[in-house]
Amino acid sequence: MQRLDRFLSEAGVESRRKIKEVIRAGRVCVNGSTVTAPEQKIDETADTVTLDGETVVKSPCRVVLMMHKPAGCVTAAQDREFKTIMEYLPEQYRKLMPIGRLDKDTEGLLLFTNDGDLAHRLISPKHGIEKTYYAEHLGTVDEADIAAFAEGCVLRDGTVCRPAVLEKLGEGKCLVRVCEGKYHQVRRMLASRGKPVSYLRRIAEGGLRLGALPLGMTRELTDEEIALLESVDFDEKFLRKN
Ligand code: URA
Repeated sequence: MQRLDRFLSEAGVESRRKIKEVIRAGRVCVNGSTVTAPEQKIDETADTVTLDGETVVKSPCRVVLMMHKPAGCVTAAQDREFKTIMEYLPEQYRKLMPIGRLDKDTEGLLLFTNDGDLAHRLISPKHGIEKTYYAEHLGTVDEADIAAFAEGCVLRDGTVCRPAVLEKLGEGKCLVRVCEGKYHQVRRMLASRGKPVSYLRRIAEGGLRLGALPLGMTRELTDEEIALLESVDFDEKFLRKN
């Protein structure tokens, strides 16, 4: 149960100061009956509150969550064959939507939210948030591979990718930065250069890093981290030159 004036305040219908006046003026009804006492208790899960005849719906506060997705589970709500990410999502977060996907065999940073606009912006190729992957692979990255990534890899089926950044870390290890999310993209890009991937982990999206979150665990982002995601703008290096 919650006070009526508090409910309306949290719903953001009026400034806090004005809400008491609005209620006392008889403009608010609970289940069809006018209520003029701001302190009246309501059950926000069961009662219908109207202001000037319009139903007041309290939008849930925004949640953005990060998961360190383990390998061996698919980014789906259910699957006949494989474990899903749901097994790692605490009960109270199961209604959130994943922002993009990671393949079954890929580990790393997977975001979830209840904010459709934010999800759309982060997934949309128009906005193109940069995603950073750590990969282990056969062979050794050379200058020709780096140039091919910068130009836009041509996958084995002829698909042309946007320019990407390839950085050699050591024998059989590299970082890849891409701004799109084609099916198995990083694996296919490296395979197209004769470097089949044996291990892949997403370590960052924009300026947001996975950090030390243990495998299989989730945590909510801070307001600063959400602001970091929202400030992402398209980076020129990901545009084809021709
Ligand atoms: N690229 C891949 O190959 N797999 C992923 O899960 C993400 C990007």
